[in-house]
Amino acid sequence: MGGCHPPVPPIRCAAFRPEITAHDQSMTILLTTGYHDASAWRAALAVAAPGREVAVYGVDPYDPAAIRYACTWQPPKGLLASLPNLEVIFNLGAGVDGVLADTDLPDVPIVRLVDDDLTYRMGEWVTLQVLNHHRGTLTYLARQRRREWKEDDHPAARDVRVGLMGYGTLASHAARILLSIGYQVRGWSRSNKPAEVALHTGEAGLKPFLAETDILVALLPLTPETRGILNARLFAAMATDGIGPILINAGRGGLQNERDILEALRSGALKGASLDVFNTEPLPPDASLWAAPNLIITPHCAAVSDPGAVSRYVAGQLDRHERGEPLLNIVDRSRGY
Ligand code: NDP
Ligand code: OXD
Repeated sequence: MGGCHPPVPPIRCAAFRPEITAHDQSMTILLTTGYHDASAWRAALAVAAPGREVAVYGVDPYDPAAIRYACTWQPPKGLLASLPNLEVIFNLGAGVDGVLADTDLPDVPIVRLVDDDLTYRMGEWVTLQVLNHHRGTLTYLARQRRREWKEDDHPAARDVRVGLMGYGTLASHAARILLSIGYQVRGWSRSNKPAEVALHTGEAGLKPFLAETDILVALLPLTPETRGILNARLFAAMATDGIGPILINAGRGGLQNERDILEALRSGALKGASLDVFNTEPLPPDASLWAAPNLIITPHCAAVSDPGAVSRYVAGQLDRHERGEPLLNIVDRSRGY
């Protein structure tokens, strides 16, 4: 979906003062977009799912009993449990940690976002960051500012080892692009499966995976198992005989220990990093990371959910559900993703 934007003044929430009219009874979709402006989402849903009534949480009055579907990004805690006839929760992004943070969720399927538009956007960002660090973009930009003409040696892509931590929908697409450039690519996932690269799995596979990784790309979901996994101990296990260790994280801020990253960048234990996600978003203006050496910061925009693409995905799933076909990409709550 993309990151949090600066807080907007709170809007009085219709759910807490329902003024139900005959028209509201026909509303079947409740839309919550966190701090994102809901108007583009409302318009996109109207095009992709014409004839369906959409209530925007905090804007439109609605009858909780009339809501069958929730399209949500970081919904307020307890909101989904207040909808007695809810059938499906559609998460407007790929990562579902924001929904699962609500401990009072109703027992209905949660569908996560799996869509080429999002996947391709992430492929662009990951490739850009790998190339930035491989080809010394930060160094050359600094020299340019000093009007300094000086070149460095860069290994060929075939001599650079990229490790994708989490090898799901997004990482496997990024892997295909990186392979086409010539990088050596490996993956790390929970379970084994057919893949276009060598896969290491589970705790036992982590050490060998890190030992042959120069550039680590984290595309893991945030779960109790993955929280804080990107820490000093992990950086110390990465290969040091190549251009790394370099860290790239577009998974979630909760995966990373930011103090460790800052210290590692200052000491050179990490040669570089790109972070799109942070423990606190937006990253506060006084955060020390802003001034860390060899760090590229982007504001949780690696792969932003496009309202049109996502609404078409939701509409397709709604049609499947109403035809009695199984929903696709249902979250496994026991795994947390
Ligand atoms: P997937 O569910 O398709 O893939 C997740 C991968 O992580 C799988 O390979 C899974 O293993 C692996 N994994 C999960 N837990 C563990 C674990 N404990 N140990 C080892 N591997 C593990 O997710 P996506 O690729 O669609 O998305 C990944 C994440 O990217 C999202 O959860 C979200 O947080 C983030 N994201 C960030 C965006 C941004 O703009 N910054 C945009 C979109 C997503 P297995 O294959 O065995 O299941
Ligand atoms: C997502 C995100 O999970 O944008 O889709 O972070």
